[in-house]
Amino acid sequence: MSKHILITGGAGFIGSHVVRLFVTRYPDYKIINLDKLTYAGNLENLKDIESRPNYIFEHGDIVDEAFVNGLFEKYPLDGVIHLAAESHVDRSITDPMAFVRTNVMGTCNLLNAAKNAWKGNYEGKRFYHVSTDEVYGELHNPQEFFVETTSYDPRSPYSASKASSDHFVRAYHNTYGLPVVISNCSNNYGPNHFPEKLIPLMINNIRNKKPLPVYGKGENVRDWLFVKDHARAIDIIFHDGKNGDTYNIGGNNEWKNIDLVHLLIRLMDKKLGNPEGESTRLITYVTDRAGHDLRYAIDATKLMTELGWSPSVTFEEGLAQTVDWYFDNWDWIENITSGEYQKYYESMYKL
Ligand code: NAD
Ligand code: DAU
Repeated sequence: MSKHILITGGAGFIGSHVVRLFVTRYPDYKIINLDKLTYAGNLENLKDIESRPNYIFEHGDIVDEAFVNGLFEKYPLDGVIHLAAESHVDRSITDPMAFVRTNVMGTCNLLNAAKNAWKGNYEGKRFYHVSTDEVYGELHNPQEFFVETTSYDPRSPYSASKASSDHFVRAYHNTYGLPVVISNCSNNYGPNHFPEKLIPLMINNIRNKKPLPVYGKGENVRDWLFVKDHARAIDIIFHDGKNGDTYNIGGNNEWKNIDLVHLLIRLMDKKLGNPEGESTRLITYVTDRAGHDLRYAIDATKLMTELGWSPSVTFEEGLAQTVDWYFDNWDWIENITSGEYQKYYESMYKL
């Protein structure tokens, strides 16, 4: 059945994988990618599908009320998959208001536009909000996992802004009956990951023999999921998720940061033809992130049992594919790291 779906943030890391999956898997759908093209948005990510007849790009800001309302007038939208956000915790510490603006106000603006356009005729309509496991706070007990009913306890400006947006999505469901679904996912990795984030930053710095900045003692734990498996989960939840429900998505794949850095060193040194462990000397312990959450770990049982999703690749396979992708696409990372990002990097790390 034909549908018009607005995907926000489709030029970013995860959004580009979601756009590609929907454009290629559903030729009958019209996929409208709305993106502001901030430092994190890059149309290069979508070069391979940009001329498909069912793909449309709209350049704009989710906070711009007239622009967003105009999109609902221009297209008979059946669904919204909302990924546009400021997504980097470190940036939220230096500029929290940018996160309030995009993540809170932008989300409310989209909700309002959908409510006003759909006017209570919700048959076949869906507003899907893509959120994060960081809204649940941090875990200390190794036996504990985040489940869908875990209380919210956001601890960074980023996670507080995402938690706030989640609350607004639920408020629009409860108050106006807007058909919504939310997912909260763990850390993603894969092709097109912006090099301010741990895995691509380490890959890039190992290649360039630059210091590898490990925050604090490197003991913080993250649960890593291959980005294409997140995109598959979004597809399944968008189509089959229960109205008003929340689904946790995770890789069941916990790594201490320092162990992950050693693993990346092993993979990269092998691929670069370096003696084993050569890049270990690049590890540099730096001042910890303020308010650094200790551990995130997702229990994705609900998604697996109710909707039949499971990750399609192991971490070894996904990481190998990721490293291969960066080796085939150094120009992608060089285009990003040569301009504004270089200034950010230098002010952030002073290494
Ligand atoms: P990203 O930073 O790579 O991309 C964000 C995209 O949103 C960019 O293309 C950017 O240009 C666009 N954007 C930003 N502000 C905008 C605005 N005001 N109007 C329109 N477009 C705007 O982010 P990502 O890592 O791909 O994350 C996507 C979503 O998934 C976010 O909502 C994030 O909170 C969530 N999430 C991310 C992860 C992760 O590990 N990266 C995990 C769980 C959830
Ligand atoms: O859990 C999901 C979240 O994962 C998403 O909602 C966020 O959008 C996404 O950015 C990610 O947040 P993290 O803060 O966990 O990811 P990041 O890659 O920034 O950091 C991963 C871990 O590595 C974290 O414990 C901080 C640490 N780190 C990070 C960087 C960039 C370092 O030790 N050194 C670094 O240089």
